[in-house]
Amino acid sequence: MITFFEKSKIFHLETKHTSYVIKLWQGEYPMHVYWGKHVRGGALDWYIESPYRRRERITNARAGTPQFTKEYWPFEYPCYGTSDFRPPAFRSCDENGREVLNPRYASYRILEGKPSLDGLPHVYTEDGDAVQTLEIELVDELSGLRIFLVYNVFEKYDVITRHTRFQGGGGVQNLEIACSMSLDFKQSPKQMLQLSGTALRERHIIRRTLEQGTMSIESTRGISSHQQNPFVALVNDDTTEEQGDAYGINLVYSSSFLASVHLDMYKSARVQIGVNPLNFGWKLGEGEIFTTPEAVLVYSDRGLGEMSRRFHRIYRDRLCRGSYRDKERPVLLNTWEASYFDINYDTVMQYARQAKDLGIELVVVDDGWFGHRDGEDSSLGDWEVNELKFPGGFKRLAEELKEMGLGLGIWVEPEMVSPDSELYRRHPDWCVHIEGYIRTEWRNQLVLDLSRKEVADYVLEQLIHLLDSAEISYVKWDCNRRLTECGSEALGRERQREFHHRYMLGLYYILENLNRRFPNMLFENCASGGGRFDPGMLYYFPQTWASDNSDGYARLKIQYGTSLCYPNVAITAHISDVPNAQLGRTTSLEFREHVCEGFNLGYELNLMHLSEKEKESTKAFISRYHEMSELVRTGDFYRLKSPFKSEEAAWMLLAEDGSKLAVWYFKGQAVGEEAYFGLKLAGLDAEADYVCLEDGRVYGGDTLMNAGLNIPWDGKDYFSCMWRFERQ
Ligand code: DGJ
Repeated sequence: MITFFEKSKIFHLETKHTSYVIKLWQGEYPMHVYWGKHVRGGALDWYIESPYRRRERITNARAGTPQFTKEYWPFEYPCYGTSDFRPPAFRSCDENGREVLNPRYASYRILEGKPSLDGLPHVYTEDGDAVQTLEIELVDELSGLRIFLVYNVFEKYDVITRHTRFQGGGGVQNLEIACSMSLDFKQSPKQMLQLSGTALRERHIIRRTLEQGTMSIESTRGISSHQQNPFVALVNDDTTEEQGDAYGINLVYSSSFLASVHLDMYKSARVQIGVNPLNFGWKLGEGEIFTTPEAVLVYSDRGLGEMSRRFHRIYRDRLCRGSYRDKERPVLLNTWEASYFDINYDTVMQYARQAKDLGIELVVVDDGWFGHRDGEDSSLGDWEVNELKFPGGFKRLAEELKEMGLGLGIWVEPEMVSPDSELYRRHPDWCVHIEGYIRTEWRNQLVLDLSRKEVADYVLEQLIHLLDSAEISYVKWDCNRRLTECGSEALGRERQREFHHRYMLGLYYILENLNRRFPNMLFENCASGGGRFDPGMLYYFPQTWASDNSDGYARLKIQYGTSLCYPNVAITAHISDVPNAQLGRTTSLEFREHVCEGFNLGYELNLMHLSEKEKESTKAFISRYHEMSELVRTGDFYRLKSPFKSEEAAWMLLAEDGSKLAVWYFKGQAVGEEAYFGLKLAGLDAEADYVCLEDGRVYGGDTLMNAGLNIPWDGKDYFSCMWRFERQ
């Protein structure tokens, strides 16, 4: 619910458990007052005056007067070039090179529902959702530039989304910085949490203590990146999984971004997230509009665990789309780690027969099926099936798989072009490049300039043609390089800085049209593993390949970290062969099964390598997975032990209605003669009893949460176990 208190000029944005409060200070500037646990509207008048006193004494000023020193005030959307010396939320330069603006409050409106963000991925609403929108309009009188601060309140989900819309005034404005959101905490949380790493080590959790100055994370690569995820959380030093403040902010965007926390001289924090200014600029003519990507804000007073569960619920229900949003995802076999480029009809059919026998439902033909692609160095762009490898094309393959009761999935990398391809020979100018400069090849490939409408349309048509050519039910969309030497022939001299964002808009355009055209297709996102695991992509792909690192032990950290804001069903986890292809490590099949079981399950190995015993256990495991797939799709995730703290990890999934749960425990490397303690569960009903399906014993909810489960650890490396319970 959104309420405006006329007398105190306060906006109160309320979700079920949280409040977000903005005050129009002296009727002119929207100030940030509060974000946190729900407070009653009536108490607000008192609350907001008190923390300002110290600063009022210092400035003794009225808004808009020369004495008004902005750096003492907590703004909702601070501008550049004034007496606020902290990082601005936006900066714009007019035709005369002037960068000073003074946008002041002009109007507000409160709408039922949420207008969509054209061309950009966003959290959406469905009929019956209790969602309201607040738009606060600011106007710079001199230039006529208008800025709309947009807030959407998702009451039931305890989520607020924010973005900013700029509308050009009289002359031309060149936007240089345009954050999606900015927020000043008067009392800053003490720490910042981020998800960082690199390829094969995605989304490891890093927690840093905030100090005076700026701490930031960013991507400049044209993809959201393996290195930093567009997510930050602010927490206190005593915030744990189950208690304490956690403020999570996630950007619904898949390109270069910047997220920063600036701690000022009073230890007030300014948090910002948005498109990375390093790769950004936008020319705004009279009446023209620029809309920033959306940021998703989640506060929890019950620790990081509840923050994650709030992200998970809204992402599952109101960010992911397509018919698979609400459907069980098929257990698939991907050919990559089994065959790499050495793939053909016979191999696929051989795998398929074995897969069918084990209960697998879909076979994905990964890289190597098109053009003359026998390695990394050719054919991207030529999306024609190689008939020598697949006689009869995908049509025949799909039909034969269908007869066996299996679906066909394919791999594509449509943003790319190999210099050795028909497409490149026809259109050497279609790749991202700057004439006269080197065209850096990365994995022997270049990127198509999707900021050009004709190129984006061509890619879209090729894909529609391909997906119409056979009964294909799954697409893995890969992206194996970053943007370099950026520029576009389609953009004039003054618009070259728009390239990065326009590239992403071109990609979103293709993805939107594909989603509309193929609503029943299961689209999976991949970028050299998890290089573009972000909410922007979740809007088009309800699942993402978390990492090219499929080692069970390494996956503990990757999946644990990813779960901080992304739901289990969106995180694909494949059981691969041992010794592991990336790390050479050997873990038991059971360990690898347990690692993948609480997530979106797949296989990525040569099934012929499984022993008869392993085939039997795989069959049993897949049928057990089907029984609990509802839990993976809709259950609440509790992280019980962090692999970032010790060699142990544990997590559990609890059904929404509390009737069922599954718990997994992992021990990594053994040291010898270690003590271990009971594994305490969370989120249960203390009064209820739960029967364990593994041993038939009945446990009290209070016992499970306070005394915990006994771990039957055998003292060896890479041990794991799992329990299922039903409430009695
Ligand atoms: C990178 C992906 O992450 C892998 O899973 C695989 O699809 C290869 N590309 C294929 O080239």
